[in-house]
Amino acid sequence: MGIDKKSLLNWVGGKRLLRKVIEPLIPKDITSYIEPFGGGAWVLLYKEKWADLEIYNDLDGRLVNLFRMVKYHPNALKEELNYLLGSREMFLQFLNGTFITELQRAAQFYFLITRSFGGRGKTFGVAKCSHGGAAKSHKNSFEKIDAIHERLDKVMIENLDFEKLIKQYDQEKAFFYCDPPYTQGCGYEVVSTKAFDHKRLREVLGNVKGRFLLSYNDSPEIRELYKDFEMIAVERLNGINNREGMKKNKMYKELLIANYPIKELYNG
Ligand SMILES: C[S@@+](CC[C@H](N)C(=O)[O-])C[C@H]1O[C@@H](n2cnc3c(N)ncnc32)[C@H](O)[C@@H]1O
Repeated sequence: MGIDKKSLLNWVGGKRLLRKVIEPLIPKDITSYIEPFGGGAWVLLYKEKWADLEIYNDLDGRLVNLFRMVKYHPNALKEELNYLLGSREMFLQFLNGTFITELQRAAQFYFLITRSFGGRGKTFGVAKCSHGGAAKSHKNSFEKIDAIHERLDKVMIENLDFEKLIKQYDQEKAFFYCDPPYTQGCGYEVVSTKAFDHKRLREVLGNVKGRFLLSYNDSPEIRELYKDFEMIAVERLNGINNREGMKKNKMYKELLIANYPIKELYNG
């Protein structure tokens, strides 16, 4: 299988498997495409261009710093990565945050995410076959960095809380693809101390002038919160468990919710 140049890294909750379903639901007559919860940016990077103005945002400064380094300093980032060995010792050292420059910070974060189990950046990824885990070659990463550097040329990168971002960029022809932390098992650095406020997001989205598409875990709480909007229930294989071959065929239920008609666009 070839390298997927439409992604930089696996991210918890990343929409690798859902992006094909999401693509046809995104309206064509938009002037801006905005991802308030950018994460690994799987949907943004899926297409060459969604709109004249494109914005990637995430509250997690480590991710934003990495995307900014790919956008502005790809060669320096590759050079920094070249010095990193795929060793367990190095992995553990980086977990404690040993960087001095923002470039080192980006390289170490990328190293932790790409060398860890399930892209969680916590446990050293052990591969039982070649090309995986710590044995990953730099070549694939470098090709991805180059491809994504080009893709990000005109993408604005922000590091704001979703409410501020949405209010700042909202207008009639704006489109927001929102992929917030789910109501179960979110585990993001930026929401670890305080639970994510799902009601605040509902309030903000209820007042936008533009259009939004939202992906969520299928739960009674979310169905109730968004009962006034159109929604589609989708089912997919649970990516991490399946790729690691741990649990067979575990299905995961999600909802796609929008403030414009999506059922007629859905081909799932
Ligand atoms: C489900 S992930 C997004 C995954 C992304 N769609 C992808 O394909 O990789 C949710 C993201 O929301 C971010 N986040 C959490 N709270 C936030 C907030 N208040 N404002 C903006 N981003 C936030 C997290 O850091 C995380 O990266």
